[in-house]
Formats: sequence, structure tokens, C-alpha cells
Amino acid sequence: MAEPGLFCQINTAASGPAETAKKHVPVITVQGDAKVGQPFAVTIKVGEAPHVMENGHFIQFVDLYCGHIYISRVDFTAELNKAEATLTIVLQHEGKRTLRAFSRCNLHGIWEGTKEVNVGK
Ligand SMILES: [Fe+2]
Repeated sequence: MAEPGLFCQINTAASGPAETAKKHVPVITVQGDAKVGQPFAVTIKVGEAPHVMENGHFIQFVDLYCGHIYISRVDFTAELNKAEATLTIVLQHEGKRTLRAFSRCNLHGIWEGTKEVNVGK
């Protein structure tokens, strides 16, 4: 059943019951070291605990941002996808950056997960 309160905000690990957060907060993993202008892989997996991907209840998409800058969106299809994607990205500025991933569940709204990366020379 849809939970209307969750649709009025960007939810985080601190939102809603812990059981719900565990299945919706995107977990970002970075492979290797991030270097200015060099491609590197970022994996976004929705939930520490797997989320169902059934027709009536599924993760519709994930968006990836670096700070407030939009990078990518991946759409998912119920029954035919797992809510997980690996993207190859390139960051153009040195220093600490925050990768932010947003997942949208059709019943539980939008959830944000973050990962700090140190972009080297
Ligand atoms: Fe959900």
C-alpha cells in the first residue's frame, strides 16, 4: 500500500521505519580511485536489503547527481530488472565531491543515498 507521507519529501535513511529505509535508500559504490577527467565506475544498488520488482511495487528509476549537478538516470522495468546499475562517469573538478543517488519506488516515493568521493589529479 502506498504511504502518502513519503511522497511529500525526499526520504533518507532517517525517514520512515528502518525496515522501509533499508529497502529504498540507494547504496553507491565507487570502483577504484576517482581522478579528474578519467572515467570510473559507480554502482548504484537500491537498498541494503533487496527491493521487490513486481508489477504493483517496484523501483521505477535511479538518478545520479554530483552535488547538484545531474549526471544520469536509469529506468527500470518491473519483473525484468533488478534495481541496480553501473555507470561510467567522468568528474572534471579536483577535490571532495558528494555523489547523490535518488531512487523512486511507486509506493514509497523518492529516497536519497550519498557517497563522498575524493577526486584526485
Ligand atoms: Fe517500495
